[in-house]
Amino acid sequence: MTDKIRVLIADDVEETRETIARLLSFEEDIQVVGMAADGQEAVTMTRRLLPDCVLMDINMPGLDGLTATQLISVEAPQTVIIMMSVQGEQEYLRKAMLAGARDYLVKPFAGDELVNAIKRAYTLEQRRSSPAGQPKAKGRMLTIFSAKGGVGKSTLSVNLAVSLARKGRRTVLVDLDLQFGDGAVMLDINPARTISDLAAEVREFSLENILPYLEEHKSGLFLLAAPLRPEEGERVPSEAVGQILTALREGFEYVIVDTAQGFTEAALKSMDLGTELLVVSTLDLPTIKNTRLSMDIIDSLGYEWDGVRVVFNRCSPDSDLTPQMVAEKLPFPVAAWLPTDERAALRAANRGEPLVLGGKGKLAQGIGQLTELIDRGEARENAGPRPVLSGLKRLLNPVGG
Ligand SMILES: Nc1ncnc2c1ncn2[C@@H]1O[C@H](COP(=O)(O)OP(=O)(O)OP(=O)(O)O)[C@@H](O)[C@H]1O
Ligand SMILES: [Mg+2]
Repeated sequence: MTDKIRVLIADDVEETRETIARLLSFEEDIQVVGMAADGQEAVTMTRRLLPDCVLMDINMPGLDGLTATQLISVEAPQTVIIMMSVQGEQEYLRKAMLAGARDYLVKPFAGDELVNAIKRAYTLEQRRSSPAGQPKAKGRMLTIFSAKGGVGKSTLSVNLAVSLARKGRRTVLVDLDLQFGDGAVMLDINPARTISDLAAEVREFSLENILPYLEEHKSGLFLLAAPLRPEEGERVPSEAVGQILTALREGFEYVIVDTAQGFTEAALKSMDLGTELLVVSTLDLPTIKNTRLSMDIIDSLGYEWDGVRVVFNRCSPDSDLTPQMVAEKLPFPVAAWLPTDERAALRAANRGEPLVLGGKGKLAQGIGQLTELIDRGEARENAGPRPVLSGLKRLLNPVGG
């Protein structure tokens, strides 16, 4: 983030919004990042822009300032809210403070009054959220990996991400299947911008610069879509991927990363920087063999046991391999055995409606339980970057390196 205090103005009167914006335009360390005309817009824009401060009019048509304040202080607790009211609305101010506002201004107010209130509230919030030099808490980042293609990585990533978002967790899905990513299709989103646009257009991958490139799903989930064409994927360097993922962890509780099959550079980058790994497999011998092989590699790269979970998807009672036979032979614990449900999976894919949104079937239930399991688990303390990429190169090329 830049050093400027990023402010959103919410007021139904255009003239008031303009006046406030003009007053703030003289301040070097304050930047107006958006203007909202009602409470609903204020909530939506806050989710997208993550301002440091919202100037919120109490009385607005539709969703009023009080309700908007309540919603924002739950969804974006790091954003401070300053209420604005006219004389005579003071009785609401108590309610506003209870709803989560940090301060209030009575209209009409002078420029320095406004600026001081913003700076004071912002500084207090900074102190509160990162006491004495402690770095801000970062979100959890889960990489969804598989040795073989078509085992259900994207199905799992999308549904897990949607489930977390619906639980009110601030979640972003990053589609790192840079050639054939289908996160957007599965969510019925026609992305205006993708990760290749981001990589091409932005020089500094700060959270603030990345946010405009995210698409928003009706579940509340954000998506950084894969390139629209395979050749565009080539233009996303893995350094950029690393910087983007690192920045996203600052603004989201969960970063869910879908990957292309195997140890691609992007997948390795994500494992390197992430906190957890979900290895997806199916219950057939060739896939299990490759899952096992990749787990050996992952194991030798120093991943801790509790950071890696295995998910078996498309499990069928017809398989002659039982979960018990398989689980015993794996170096990492199995977090879920998800059943086959051709109909539900097909319908979900064709409608762009993730299973967990409508389905009460076993597959949706299984993913729901997996979400709970993951969400209950403590965030793993990320003990700094692991040398996955270099380690893998060493393994694949042991002589000389
Ligand atoms: N549990 C399931 N039961 C039935 N069908 C499933 C199940 N999970 C996924 N599928 C279907 O399997 C196909 C592949 O799933 P998906 O695209 O999620 O796999 P993937 O691992 O992301 O593939 P790729 O390696 O190509 O990215 C899709 O048609 C999906 O609808
Ligand atoms: Mg996929």
